[in-house]
Amino acid sequence: MYASNSITATTRKKGPVIAIDGPAGAGKSTVAKAIAEMFGLAYVSTGLIYRALTLKAICLGADIREAECIGELARSADVAVLPEDGDCRILLDGEDVTAELTSPEVCAYVSQVAEIPDVRAALLDIQRAIAKKGSVVMDGRDIGTVVAPDADVKIFLVADFEERVRRRVLQARERGYDVVEETVVSEIKNRDTIDSGRKVAPLKPAPDAITVDTTGKTPEETIAEVAGIIRKELCGNEVRNTSEGMGEKSCFT
Ligand code: DC
Repeated sequence: MYASNSITATTRKKGPVIAIDGPAGAGKSTVAKAIAEMFGLAYVSTGLIYRALTLKAICLGADIREAECIGELARSADVAVLPEDGDCRILLDGEDVTAELTSPEVCAYVSQVAEIPDVRAALLDIQRAIAKKGSVVMDGRDIGTVVAPDADVKIFLVADFEERVRRRVLQARERGYDVVEETVVSEIKNRDTIDSGRKVAPLKPAPDAITVDTTGKTPEETIAEVAGIIRKELCGNEVRNTSEGMGEKSCFT
C-alpha cells in the first residue's frame, strides 16, 4: 500500500514532486498521467480521495449539508491510495471503489463535500504523506498552495469553459454514462464556484505556479509543453530526448 490515513512506511527513493492544479475539465488527469509515465513517477489524483468520501456519504445516506457529520465521517474513513500502472486506485475501508468514483452521483456532490473545512483537515495528512515520499505527480486544486507548497514544479492548467464542458461530456460518455450537456454545464459552473470560492484551500494558482492554457491544444501538445517546463525547471535543460522514460528519469537522480 502506498499511503492511507494510517500512514505506511516507504522504501521509495525520494524524487521530485510535480503539482498539477486547475479547474474541472482543464486536462489535469490526462496530462498528469502522461507526465508521470514519461518521467517514471507515480501518479496520484487527489480528487479521488474526496470522491471516495463522497461515495461513503452517499452510501450511508448522510446529509451532505451536515458539515459536522461529514467531517466525522472523514475522520473515521479509511482511504488508501494505490498508484498503479500509471494510474491510481482507491480503497475505501478496504474495498476497491475506484470504478464508482466517477459516477454522476459522486460528481454532483463532491465539491460540496470537499468544501467542508473538517473534511479538508481530515484528508490533508494522507495527501501530505504522499507528497513527502516524493517521486510523484499529484493533481488536484490545492497541491501547489496547501498540500505540497514546496513541490519541485507547479503547473496550473486552465481552459475555456466551453472546451472544459466538451471534454467532460466526452469523458462521461466514454465511461458509459448517458449525460446531457446542460447538466454538465451547470455542474461545472457549480463546481467552479464552490472550488474557487471556498474559505479553506480554494482553487487558485500558487504564486510560483506556471499557468498553461490548454484551450485548442491536443493532449499531446499540452503534454509536450508541460514536459518542457518540467525539464527546464528540474534540469535547467529545455531540450532533452523526450521519447524514453529512462532518459527523463536520469535527470532527477
Ligand atoms: O479532480 P476531481 O474532479 O476528481 O475533483 C473532485 C472534487 O474534489 C473537486 O470538485 C474539488 C475537490 N478537490 C479539492 O477540493 N482539492 C483537491 N486537491 C482535489 C479535488
